[in-house]
Amino acid sequence: MSVLFSPVTVRGVTFPNRVVVSPLCMYSAEDGLAQPWHFAHLSTFARGKAGLVFAEATAVEAIGRITPACLGIWTDEQADALKPTTAFIEEMGCVPGIQLAHAGRKASTAPPFLGGKPLPSDDAQAWPVVGPSAIAVGPGFPTPHELSVAEIQALTASFVAAARRSVTAGFKVIELHGAHGYLMHSFLSPISNQRSDEYGGDIDGRMRFPLEVSRAVRAEVGDDMPLFFRISAVDGIEGGWTMDDSVTLAKALGENGIDVVDCSSGGVSGAPRFRTDDDGKPLTTSSARQPGFQVPYAQRIASETDLKSMAVGVIIDPHQAEQIASSGDADFIALGREIMHNPFWPLHAARTLDADADFALWPKQYKWAVDRRAQIAPLNN
Ligand SMILES: Cc1cc2nc3c(=O)[nH]c(=O)nc-3n(C[C@H](O)[C@H](O)[C@H](O)COP(=O)(O)O)c2cc1C
Repeated sequence: MSVLFSPVTVRGVTFPNRVVVSPLCMYSAEDGLAQPWHFAHLSTFARGKAGLVFAEATAVEAIGRITPACLGIWTDEQADALKPTTAFIEEMGCVPGIQLAHAGRKASTAPPFLGGKPLPSDDAQAWPVVGPSAIAVGPGFPTPHELSVAEIQALTASFVAAARRSVTAGFKVIELHGAHGYLMHSFLSPISNQRSDEYGGDIDGRMRFPLEVSRAVRAEVGDDMPLFFRISAVDGIEGGWTMDDSVTLAKALGENGIDVVDCSSGGVSGAPRFRTDDDGKPLTTSSARQPGFQVPYAQRIASETDLKSMAVGVIIDPHQAEQIASSGDADFIALGREIMHNPFWPLHAARTLDADADFALWPKQYKWAVDRRAQIAPLNN
């Protein structure tokens, strides 16, 4: 029996399977408002029956967007614009989730399909960026304004207000974005956080802001909602955040209301992953990334803490995903590029894993016809 396609319950929510659509920025919002593209994009994954469909990194304040075209949820109108999407995901029997984010010192950039570079300060759409310390991401990036203690605490309130709106919008899961060099990760990493007050210094100080946000969001949403937290498990840089630090963080997150640690990596310095040079060539390549390269991070969280873990990163093959789930290396299996390439990946994976012999998982509008299609001899799949 497939573990990948068996249900799992976290707090008050039962997920029909363990396949997750990883948060995927579409750079297609207007003033933070979801557009028809967002509905089409996310509802396709619900038709494909991923157990949990995450909306992209959604900014808790305007200057927390990665680009001017990122989704936001700092107004009620923005939350309302997401309601048809959450309703449709639920209609398909899937669980709608949202990733709440603040881009911090990596904000104010162009979308990757427009080069991905920081917007020049004289660009009409650019804005000043913020961070734990006045340390730029790297050459070509703006130096962030160092947040005051009062400003940090106001940001926690912004996350809480965004969580409240997420509930109103119909989301059943919230993930806090603590990875990829964005604001919360930049507090965690000693590369970007060189404060000497209570929000910096040793690991306890550097964890303070993400833990305060987690605790405050848990208090806002109550006991029934599962909360995920995405980490960059390692910085991959000399003197940076390590996997041991991640285990320490995960245990503390568990004490502050988080249920699932989503294990990504990297991003604290250097070129953003999708940035291109002047000729449009990627500045970073993904060719060195092997299938499942981040699974060992999820495995350590699962084995060394009481929390659930989520694996992500070059998970392509249904048998690979099943192996990760059935071995207990991760409780949730997230896909990004693979599920954009094939949004019906879960439906096909269930067939491959003999978990859906009679197309029962398929939306009824398709099931009867796809069933007949399979009776045509050359299409017997
Ligand atoms: C187009 C695109 C947009 C992404 N947007 C986000 C995002 O909003 N939040 C986030 O945490 N990660 C984001 N990521 C990273 C993915 O969620 C995922 O972790 C990464 O692509 C690795 O998984 P994959 O190999 O299955 O693509 C994005 C990746 C891509 C390709």
